Amino acid sequence: MKARIYLDNSATTRTDDLVLEAMLPYLRDRFGNASSIHTFGQEARAAVEEARCSVAELLGADAREIIFTSGGTESDNWALRGVFRSGYRPGNHIVTTRIEHPAVLATCKALEAEGAEVTYVPVDHSGRVDPADIAAAANHRTILISVMHANNETGVIQPLEEIGAIARERGILLHTDAVQSVGKIRVDVRGLGVDLLSLSGHKFHGPKGIGAMFVRQGTRLAPFMTGGSQERKRRAGTENVPGIVGLGAAARLAAERFAGLGVRTGTLRDEFEAALERRLGGVSVNGSKEHRLPTVSNLSFQGLEGEAAVIALDLDGVAVSTGSACSSGSLEPSHVLTAMGLRPEVVQGSLRFSFCWHNSEDEMREALEVVVKVVQRLRDLRGKARS
Ligand SMILES: Cc1ncc(COP(=O)(O)O)c(C=O)c1O
Repeated sequence: MKARIYLDNSATTRTDDLVLEAMLPYLRDRFGNASSIHTFGQEARAAVEEARCSVAELLGADAREIIFTSGGTESDNWALRGVFRSGYRPGNHIVTTRIEHPAVLATCKALEAEGAEVTYVPVDHSGRVDPADIAAAANHRTILISVMHANNETGVIQPLEEIGAIARERGILLHTDAVQSVGKIRVDVRGLGVDLLSLSGHKFHGPKGIGAMFVRQGTRLAPFMTGGSQERKRRAGTENVPGIVGLGAAARLAAERFAGLGVRTGTLRDEFEAALERRLGGVSVNGSKEHRLPTVSNLSFQGLEGEAAVIALDLDGVAVSTGSACSSGSLEPSHVLTAMGLRPEVVQGSLRFSFCWHNSEDEMREALEVVVKVVQRLRDLRGKARS
Protein backbone atom coordinates (compact mmCIF):
# COMPACT_ATOMS: atom_id res chain seq x y z
CA MET A 1 0.00 0.00 0.00
CA LYS A 2 1.22 3.50 -0.83
CA ALA A 3 2.24 5.57 2.19
CA ARG A 4 -0.18 8.36 3.00
CA ILE A 5 1.13 11.92 2.91
CA TYR A 6 0.23 14.19 5.79
CA LEU A 7 -0.02 17.88 4.89
CA ASP A 8 -2.28 19.00 7.72
CA ASN A 9 0.27 20.00 10.32
CA SER A 10 -1.67 23.07 11.43
CA ALA A 11 -4.39 20.73 12.71
CA THR A 12 -1.95 18.57 14.59
CA THR A 13 1.53 17.14 14.18
CA ARG A 14 2.95 13.70 14.56
CA THR A 15 4.54 13.14 17.98
CA ASP A 16 8.27 13.09 17.37
CA ASP A 17 9.99 9.79 18.22
CA LEU A 18 12.37 11.63 20.55
CA VAL A 19 9.41 13.17 22.36
CA LEU A 20 7.79 9.78 22.76
CA GLU A 21 11.02 8.28 24.10
CA ALA A 22 11.34 11.08 26.64
CA MET A 23 7.78 10.47 27.82
CA LEU A 24 7.77 6.69 28.10
CA PRO A 25 9.58 6.37 31.47
CA TYR A 26 6.95 8.69 32.99
CA LEU A 27 4.18 6.43 31.76
CA ARG A 28 5.95 3.39 33.23
CA ASP A 29 8.11 3.30 36.33
CA ARG A 30 8.51 7.04 36.99
CA PHE A 31 4.81 7.44 37.65
CA GLY A 32 5.10 9.52 40.83
CA ASN A 33 2.87 12.47 41.70
CA ALA A 34 5.00 15.60 41.40
CA SER A 35 3.54 16.86 44.70
CA SER A 36 4.68 13.81 46.74
CA ILE A 37 7.74 14.24 48.91
CA HIS A 38 9.18 10.72 48.42
CA THR A 39 11.63 9.78 45.69
CA PHE A 40 8.91 8.86 43.19
CA GLY A 41 7.45 12.32 43.63
CA GLN A 42 10.81 14.07 43.50
CA GLU A 43 11.69 12.33 40.23
CA ALA A 44 8.44 13.58 38.70
CA ARG A 45 8.95 17.08 40.13
CA ALA A 46 12.46 17.29 38.69
CA ALA A 47 11.15 16.28 35.25
CA VAL A 48 8.36 18.88 35.42
CA GLU A 49 10.80 21.64 36.35
CA GLU A 50 13.24 20.64 33.63
CA ALA A 51 10.42 20.83 31.07
CA ARG A 52 9.39 24.22 32.43
CA CYS A 53 12.92 25.49 31.84
CA SER A 54 12.90 24.14 28.26
CA VAL A 55 9.60 25.85 27.44
CA ALA A 56 10.80 29.09 29.08
CA GLU A 57 14.00 28.98 27.07
CA LEU A 58 12.09 28.52 23.82
CA LEU A 59 10.11 31.70 24.57
CA GLY A 60 12.86 33.80 26.14
CA ALA A 61 10.92 33.73 29.41
CA ASP A 62 11.76 32.97 33.02
CA ALA A 63 10.79 29.46 34.16
CA ARG A 64 8.56 30.96 36.88
CA GLU A 65 6.47 32.56 34.14
CA ILE A 66 5.44 29.23 32.57
CA ILE A 67 2.31 27.46 33.76
CA PHE A 68 1.26 24.11 32.31
CA THR A 69 -2.31 23.72 31.06
CA SER A 70 -4.23 21.10 29.10
CA GLY A 71 -3.61 22.90 25.78
CA GLY A 72 -4.29 25.94 23.67
CA THR A 73 -8.02 26.07 24.37
CA GLU A 74 -7.53 26.12 28.12
CA SER A 75 -4.76 28.72 27.91
CA ASP A 76 -6.93 31.01 25.75
CA ASN A 77 -9.92 30.57 28.05
CA TRP A 78 -7.81 31.25 31.09
CA ALA A 79 -6.12 34.35 29.68
CA LEU A 80 -9.42 36.01 28.82
CA ARG A 81 -11.46 34.89 31.80
CA GLY A 82 -8.54 35.30 34.20
CA VAL A 83 -7.95 38.93 33.23
CA PHE A 84 -11.69 39.71 33.17
CA ARG A 85 -12.05 38.40 36.71
CA SER A 86 -8.79 39.75 38.08
CA GLY A 87 -9.95 43.34 38.61
CA TYR A 88 -6.40 44.54 37.98
CA ARG A 89 -7.85 47.80 36.77
CA PRO A 90 -11.41 49.12 36.39
CA GLY A 91 -13.08 48.27 33.10
CA ASN A 92 -14.85 45.56 31.17
CA HIS A 93 -13.67 46.15 27.61
CA ILE A 94 -11.69 43.64 25.55
CA VAL A 95 -10.16 44.30 22.13
CA THR A 96 -9.64 41.32 19.83
CA THR A 97 -9.79 40.57 16.10
CA ARG A 98 -12.31 38.92 13.81
CA ILE A 99 -9.90 36.18 12.81
CA GLU A 100 -9.11 34.63 16.20
CA HIS A 101 -9.48 30.92 16.85
CA PRO A 102 -12.86 29.90 18.31
CA ALA A 103 -11.08 29.30 21.65
CA VAL A 104 -10.81 33.11 21.87
CA LEU A 105 -13.93 34.16 19.95
CA ALA A 106 -16.33 31.84 21.78
CA THR A 107 -14.78 32.85 25.11
CA CYS A 108 -15.32 36.52 24.23
CA LYS A 109 -18.95 35.72 23.43
CA ALA A 110 -19.32 33.94 26.79
CA LEU A 111 -17.77 36.92 28.59
CA GLU A 112 -20.14 39.30 26.80
CA ALA A 113 -22.94 37.39 28.51
CA GLU A 114 -21.16 38.13 31.81
CA GLY A 115 -21.00 41.87 31.13
CA ALA A 116 -17.86 42.28 29.02
CA GLU A 117 -17.82 44.62 26.06
CA VAL A 118 -15.78 43.29 23.17
CA THR A 119 -14.54 45.08 20.05
CA TYR A 120 -13.74 42.73 17.14
CA VAL A 121 -11.22 44.62 15.00
CA PRO A 122 -11.27 43.81 11.25
CA VAL A 123 -8.29 42.70 9.14
CA ASP A 124 -7.25 43.79 5.67
CA HIS A 125 -7.22 41.72 2.47
CA SER A 126 -3.86 40.22 3.44
CA GLY A 127 -5.26 38.95 6.74
CA ARG A 128 -3.38 41.43 8.91
CA VAL A 129 -4.75 43.73 11.53
CA ASP A 130 -3.66 47.38 11.49
CA PRO A 131 -2.14 48.38 14.87
CA ALA A 132 -3.77 51.81 14.41
CA ASP A 133 -7.18 50.09 14.47
CA ILE A 134 -6.25 48.39 17.75
CA ALA A 135 -5.15 51.75 19.18
CA ALA A 136 -8.41 53.34 18.02
CA ALA A 137 -10.51 50.55 19.52
CA ALA A 138 -8.88 50.71 22.96
CA ASN A 139 -10.30 53.12 25.54
CA HIS A 140 -9.96 53.90 29.26
CA ARG A 141 -12.14 50.88 30.10
CA THR A 142 -10.04 48.40 28.10
CA ILE A 143 -8.55 45.68 30.29
CA LEU A 144 -7.18 43.34 27.65
CA ILE A 145 -6.03 43.22 24.04
CA SER A 146 -5.95 39.70 22.60
CA VAL A 147 -4.44 39.28 19.14
CA MET A 148 -3.20 35.96 17.79
CA HIS A 149 0.42 35.67 16.68
CA ALA A 150 -0.10 33.55 13.55
CA ASN A 151 -3.44 32.58 12.10
CA ASN A 152 -4.35 28.89 12.03
CA GLU A 153 -5.95 29.00 8.58
CA THR A 154 -3.62 31.29 6.63
CA GLY A 155 -0.43 31.27 8.72
CA VAL A 156 -0.42 35.09 8.49
CA ILE A 157 1.66 36.70 11.23
CA GLN A 158 0.27 39.74 13.02
CA PRO A 159 2.26 42.92 13.85
CA LEU A 160 2.43 42.05 17.53
CA GLU A 161 5.47 44.18 18.40
CA GLU A 162 3.59 47.33 17.39
CA ILE A 163 0.47 46.19 19.23
CA GLY A 164 2.65 45.41 22.26
CA ALA A 165 3.97 48.97 22.26
CA ILE A 166 0.41 50.35 22.17
CA ALA A 167 -0.68 48.08 25.04
CA ARG A 168 2.33 49.03 27.18
CA GLU A 169 1.87 52.73 26.58
CA ARG A 170 -1.75 52.51 27.74
CA GLY A 171 -1.14 50.11 30.63
CA ILE A 172 -3.39 47.46 29.06
CA LEU A 173 -2.55 43.75 29.26
CA LEU A 174 -1.75 41.98 25.98
CA HIS A 175 -2.49 38.32 25.33
CA THR A 176 -1.50 36.41 22.24
CA ASP A 177 -2.63 33.03 21.04
CA ALA A 178 0.69 31.72 19.73
CA VAL A 179 -0.52 28.14 19.33
CA GLN A 180 0.40 28.14 15.63
CA SER A 181 3.67 30.04 15.80
CA VAL A 182 5.47 28.48 18.77
CA GLY A 183 7.86 25.83 17.48
CA LYS A 184 7.55 27.07 13.88
CA ILE A 185 9.20 30.48 14.11
CA ARG A 186 11.17 32.19 16.84
CA VAL A 187 8.78 33.54 19.46
CA ASP A 188 10.31 35.87 22.02
CA VAL A 189 7.91 37.10 24.69
CA ARG A 190 10.00 40.15 25.60
CA GLY A 191 10.47 41.22 21.98
CA LEU A 192 6.75 40.84 21.31
CA GLY A 193 5.88 42.73 24.49
CA VAL A 194 3.14 40.32 25.56
CA ASP A 195 1.94 39.71 29.11
CA LEU A 196 0.18 36.42 28.37
CA LEU A 197 0.84 33.84 25.65
CA SER A 198 -0.91 30.55 24.87
CA LEU A 199 0.81 27.53 23.35
CA SER A 200 -0.08 23.91 22.67
CA GLY A 201 2.17 20.83 22.55
CA HIS A 202 0.51 18.91 19.73
CA LYS A 203 1.10 21.69 17.21
CA PHE A 204 4.87 21.22 17.30
CA HIS A 205 5.42 17.48 17.61
CA GLY A 206 4.56 17.19 21.29
CA PRO A 207 1.66 15.13 22.67
CA LYS A 208 -1.99 16.19 22.71
CA GLY A 209 -3.69 17.46 25.85
CA ILE A 210 -0.77 19.50 27.10
CA GLY A 211 -0.03 23.18 26.68
CA ALA A 212 1.24 26.13 28.60
CA MET A 213 0.68 29.75 29.29
CA PHE A 214 3.34 32.37 29.68
CA VAL A 215 2.25 34.79 32.40
CA ARG A 216 4.62 37.74 32.72
CA GLN A 217 5.82 38.12 36.27
CA GLY A 218 3.60 40.48 38.24
CA THR A 219 0.54 39.97 35.99
CA ARG A 220 -2.65 39.66 37.99
CA LEU A 221 -4.73 36.75 36.79
CA ALA A 222 -7.62 35.00 38.53
CA PRO A 223 -7.07 31.21 38.75
CA PHE A 224 -8.97 29.22 36.15
CA MET A 225 -8.98 25.91 38.02
CA THR A 226 -9.36 25.85 41.77
CA GLY A 227 -8.41 22.96 44.01
CA GLY A 228 -4.91 21.96 45.03
CA SER A 229 -1.96 24.31 45.16
CA GLN A 230 -0.16 23.05 42.02
CA GLU A 231 1.51 25.50 39.65
CA ARG A 232 1.99 28.12 42.40
CA LYS A 233 -1.73 27.95 43.20
CA ARG A 234 -2.55 29.23 39.74
CA ARG A 235 -3.71 26.03 38.03
CA ALA A 236 -4.96 23.31 40.34
CA GLY A 237 -4.86 19.62 39.47
CA THR A 238 -2.24 16.86 39.53
CA GLU A 239 0.32 17.66 36.85
CA ASN A 240 0.21 15.68 33.61
CA VAL A 241 3.81 14.61 34.07
CA PRO A 242 4.25 12.53 30.87
CA GLY A 243 2.60 15.28 28.83
CA ILE A 244 4.73 17.99 30.43
CA VAL A 245 7.89 15.96 29.80
CA GLY A 246 6.79 15.56 26.16
CA LEU A 247 6.16 19.28 25.83
CA GLY A 248 9.61 20.03 27.23
CA ALA A 249 11.22 17.61 24.77
CA ALA A 250 9.27 19.15 21.87
CA ALA A 251 10.41 22.62 22.96
CA ARG A 252 14.07 21.51 22.95
CA LEU A 253 13.69 19.91 19.52
CA ALA A 254 12.01 23.00 18.12
CA ALA A 255 14.80 25.24 19.41
CA GLU A 256 17.37 22.99 17.71
CA ARG A 257 15.52 22.81 14.41
CA PHE A 258 14.30 26.38 13.93
CA ALA A 259 16.80 27.62 11.43
CA GLY A 260 16.49 24.55 9.21
CA LEU A 261 12.70 24.45 9.42
CA GLY A 262 12.28 28.06 8.34
CA VAL A 263 14.49 27.90 5.30
CA ARG A 264 13.87 24.35 4.10
CA THR A 265 10.11 24.20 4.67
CA GLY A 266 9.59 27.73 3.37
CA THR A 267 11.46 26.88 0.18
CA LEU A 268 9.55 23.62 -0.35
CA ARG A 269 6.27 25.43 0.30
CA ASP A 270 7.09 28.21 -2.18
CA GLU A 271 8.10 25.69 -4.86
CA PHE A 272 4.89 23.73 -4.23
CA GLU A 273 2.77 26.88 -4.65
CA ALA A 274 4.62 28.00 -7.79
CA ALA A 275 4.29 24.54 -9.37
CA LEU A 276 0.55 24.40 -8.68
CA GLU A 277 -0.02 27.78 -10.26
CA ARG A 278 2.13 26.82 -13.28
CA ARG A 279 0.46 23.47 -13.82
CA LEU A 280 -3.13 24.35 -12.98
CA GLY A 281 -3.63 28.11 -13.34
CA GLY A 282 -6.34 29.88 -11.39
CA VAL A 283 -4.54 29.38 -8.07
CA SER A 284 -4.12 32.24 -5.60
CA VAL A 285 -2.46 32.49 -2.20
CA ASN A 286 -4.81 33.66 0.54
CA GLY A 287 -3.15 36.12 2.87
CA SER A 288 0.14 37.97 3.06
CA LYS A 289 3.00 36.13 1.39
CA GLU A 290 5.48 38.29 3.21
CA HIS A 291 4.22 37.89 6.78
CA ARG A 292 3.48 34.19 6.85
CA LEU A 293 4.61 31.05 8.68
CA PRO A 294 6.95 29.01 6.45
CA THR A 295 4.75 25.97 7.10
CA VAL A 296 1.38 27.07 5.73
CA SER A 297 -0.10 27.49 2.28
CA ASN A 298 -3.73 28.52 2.06
CA LEU A 299 -4.71 28.47 -1.61
CA SER A 300 -7.88 29.16 -3.54
CA PHE A 301 -8.44 27.14 -6.69
CA GLN A 302 -10.76 28.66 -9.23
CA GLY A 303 -13.74 26.41 -9.96
CA LEU A 304 -13.10 24.00 -7.08
CA GLU A 305 -15.26 22.97 -4.15
CA GLY A 306 -12.84 22.73 -1.21
CA GLU A 307 -14.70 20.10 0.84
CA ALA A 308 -15.03 17.78 -2.17
CA ALA A 309 -11.31 18.22 -2.87
CA VAL A 310 -10.36 17.29 0.72
CA ILE A 311 -12.29 14.03 0.38
CA ALA A 312 -10.91 13.25 -3.07
CA LEU A 313 -7.34 13.99 -1.96
CA ASP A 314 -7.79 11.79 1.09
CA LEU A 315 -8.93 8.90 -1.12
CA ASP A 316 -5.70 9.41 -3.07
CA GLY A 317 -3.63 9.39 0.11
CA VAL A 318 -3.02 13.10 0.74
CA ALA A 319 -4.37 14.66 3.94
CA VAL A 320 -5.13 18.40 3.80
CA SER A 321 -7.92 20.56 5.13
CA THR A 322 -10.16 23.43 4.14
CA GLY A 323 -9.29 25.56 7.15
CA SER A 324 -9.27 25.01 10.86
CA ALA A 325 -9.99 21.47 12.02
CA CYS A 326 -12.70 22.83 14.28
CA SER A 327 -14.67 24.42 11.49
CA SER A 328 -14.17 21.73 8.88
CA GLY A 329 -17.15 19.43 8.87
CA SER A 330 -19.42 22.43 9.42
CA LEU A 331 -20.98 24.14 6.46
CA GLU A 332 -20.08 27.59 7.75
CA PRO A 333 -17.67 29.36 5.40
CA SER A 334 -14.31 30.21 6.98
CA HIS A 335 -14.72 33.27 9.23
CA VAL A 336 -11.06 34.09 8.62
CA LEU A 337 -11.18 34.20 4.80
CA THR A 338 -14.55 35.94 4.95
CA ALA A 339 -13.12 38.60 7.30
CA MET A 340 -10.33 39.13 4.72
CA GLY A 341 -13.02 40.14 2.23
CA LEU A 342 -12.66 37.14 -0.09
CA ARG A 343 -15.64 36.41 -2.31
CA PRO A 344 -17.74 33.37 -1.25
CA GLU A 345 -16.62 31.28 -4.26
CA VAL A 346 -12.97 32.03 -3.43
CA VAL A 347 -13.55 30.98 0.18
CA GLN A 348 -15.32 27.84 -0.99
CA GLY A 349 -12.46 26.92 -3.30
CA SER A 350 -9.78 27.16 -0.64
CA LEU A 351 -7.51 24.43 0.69
CA ARG A 352 -4.97 24.62 3.50
CA PHE A 353 -1.72 22.70 3.07
CA SER A 354 0.47 22.74 6.17
CA PHE A 355 3.95 21.29 6.34
CA CYS A 356 6.56 20.22 8.86
CA TRP A 357 10.15 19.06 8.94
CA HIS A 358 9.03 15.45 8.50
CA ASN A 359 7.81 16.20 4.96
CA SER A 360 10.47 15.09 2.48
CA GLU A 361 11.07 16.54 -0.99
CA ASP A 362 9.87 13.25 -2.51
CA GLU A 363 6.63 13.49 -0.57
CA MET A 364 6.10 17.05 -1.72
CA ARG A 365 6.66 16.06 -5.34
CA GLU A 366 4.25 13.14 -4.99
CA ALA A 367 1.65 15.30 -3.26
CA LEU A 368 1.94 17.88 -6.05
CA GLU A 369 1.10 15.23 -8.68
CA VAL A 370 -1.92 14.05 -6.68
CA VAL A 371 -3.22 17.59 -6.14
CA VAL A 372 -2.83 18.46 -9.84
CA LYS A 373 -4.68 15.29 -10.85
CA VAL A 374 -7.51 15.72 -8.33
CA VAL A 375 -8.06 19.43 -9.04
CA GLN A 376 -8.11 18.83 -12.80
CA ARG A 377 -10.59 15.96 -12.37
CA LEU A 378 -12.91 17.94 -10.10
CA ARG A 379 -12.77 21.00 -12.34
CA ASP A 380 -13.63 18.81 -15.36
CA LEU A 381 -16.54 17.20 -13.53
CA ARG A 382 -17.86 20.60 -12.52
CA GLY A 383 -17.50 21.88 -16.07
CA LYS A 384 -19.43 18.85 -17.42
CA ALA A 385 -22.17 19.20 -14.80
CA ARG A 386 -22.67 22.81 -15.88
CA SER A 387 -22.72 22.16 -19.62
C1 LIG B 1 -4.70 29.30 16.87
C2 LIG B 1 -5.20 28.18 17.73
N1 LIG B 1 -5.59 28.45 18.99
C3 LIG B 1 -6.03 27.49 19.82
C4 LIG B 1 -6.13 26.19 19.40
C5 LIG B 1 -6.60 25.14 20.35
O1 LIG B 1 -5.52 24.40 20.84
P1 LIG B 1 -5.74 22.96 21.50
O2 LIG B 1 -6.05 22.03 20.37
O3 LIG B 1 -4.44 22.65 22.16
O4 LIG B 1 -6.85 23.10 22.49
C6 LIG B 1 -5.76 25.86 18.09
C7 LIG B 1 -5.94 24.48 17.58
O5 LIG B 1 -6.35 24.26 16.47
C8 LIG B 1 -5.28 26.88 17.24
O6 LIG B 1 -4.91 26.63 15.98
